[in-house]
Amino acid sequence: MSLMEKNKVYIETYGCQMNLADTEIVLGILQNYGYGITKDLNNADVVLLNTCSIRENAEQRIYGRLGNIKTLKRTNPNLVIGILGCMAERLRKDLIDDKKIVDVVVGPDEYRRLPELIDTAFGGDKGIGVRLSKTETYDDIIPYREDGLMAWLSVMRGCDKFCTFCVVPFTRGRERSRSLQSIVEEIKQLSRRGFKEVTLLGQNVNSYLDGQNDFADLLAACAEVDRSIRMRFTTSHPQDLSDKLLYTIAAYPNLCNYIHLPVQSGSNRILKLMNRTYTIEHYLNLIDKARKIIPGVSFSTDIIAGFPTETYEDHLMTLDIMREVKYDGAYMFKYSPRERTKAFEMGDDVSDEVKTKRLQEIIEVQQKVSFEINQKLIGKEEIILIEGFSRKSDQFLSGRTDTNKVVIIPVDDNLKPGDYSKVKINKATHATLFGEFVEKITPDKKLALTA
Ligand code: SAH
Ligand code: SF4
Ligand code: F3S
Repeated sequence: MSLMEKNKVYIETYGCQMNLADTEIVLGILQNYGYGITKDLNNADVVLLNTCSIRENAEQRIYGRLGNIKTLKRTNPNLVIGILGCMAERLRKDLIDDKKIVDVVVGPDEYRRLPELIDTAFGGDKGIGVRLSKTETYDDIIPYREDGLMAWLSVMRGCDKFCTFCVVPFTRGRERSRSLQSIVEEIKQLSRRGFKEVTLLGQNVNSYLDGQNDFADLLAACAEVDRSIRMRFTTSHPQDLSDKLLYTIAAYPNLCNYIHLPVQSGSNRILKLMNRTYTIEHYLNLIDKARKIIPGVSFSTDIIAGFPTETYEDHLMTLDIMREVKYDGAYMFKYSPRERTKAFEMGDDVSDEVKTKRLQEIIEVQQKVSFEINQKLIGKEEIILIEGFSRKSDQFLSGRTDTNKVVIIPVDDNLKPGDYSKVKINKATHATLFGEFVEKITPDKKLALTA
């Protein structure tokens, strides 16, 4: 321990899981440089917000938060406030010039320079690093992770798809993959620390490529590290989800039978305007094929309501596809125009009132579908990973099935967090299953029941 008290950093994370993973990389970098980490905003020398630009309201919320944090400078004028992540990349100097309270602005590919840029800010200047990189994957950085059961791990960065509504290719730059070897090594470390679930992350994991190894090869290599670790991944683009990937998921019991496969819209006309590069027919074929190859596989999706020129008929097609596929879950959004994207040029001609109404209908359809799917599970057995006490009561444990459904069961002396348990479902809502303990599952057994 040095005699000098360490500077302490506090960080808040917004946006997607990739940002959560990046926050751990940032903390790894800063800790390595000698920073302490604090969860108390009032105790921090450096306050960082790792931000998201995906929709207007995400940015508004962060601006609001910045307003609050600004007041801390009154009592601590030396406090360094920094913006990281996608807003840093998108707004760059605006943040420094307009919002004078920001001292540091660092985009997703320049986190290695954070210590230096924060030092610049301590010296009274602004620290700015917003270059995007074609190669940065933070391959060699050891992320700062608290002990736990679940970890996420970025296997690739950036996106080359340029869906016309999406800001990500502009904030995260071009696609690049981390080496398979370094990912496998990291999973070995997670295994030694007792982690039980790892989610591999990328904006489009199907484009993963390291030499000859594609994403299916990576998943297989990861699954083999530790059979008691469940592997998940997100996100798959429907255009290039390969048969090989489906067969790989089917072959390994610890690869979860769950695919997040965002459809965005049920209308081919809108899909084309979105540059999603698949048709509904292709998409439905894919779902069929996946269901044949992976018995019991479940799907979730993302849906956008009110994309430019979306008619009521287009909207009905979205409701139809949701009823047809029967997603286990959906993330549903109102379209939000983003500068620099192609769709921005198309105008924003669906009124907010109509978007709200369509979104509401989309949510209602999904809740109904989820409720029906869950009702069918009553009386069935599932295997869950016990995560801890339920949010509402320490008389109950909470876990998830490999299809990502939350199951609540009464506390049982046989079970602790990190155990796999067979449970019998006896009640269900659209969001939660309730069940009872049947037997503990040892890790060498199958971690999933195939339907
Ligand atoms: N790479 C992932 C998605 C990342 S963004 C994929 O391709 O699926 C997560 C979701 O946010 C998107 O799937 C989309 O549904 C939604 N989204 C992105 N841009 C949006 C915008 N401008 N307005 C509303 N929703 C948007
Ligand atoms: Fe955005 Fe499309 Fe890339 Fe997903 S695939 S991050 S929606 S551009
Ligand atoms: Fe948001 Fe950037 Fe993720 S825009 S959703 S934090 S990639």
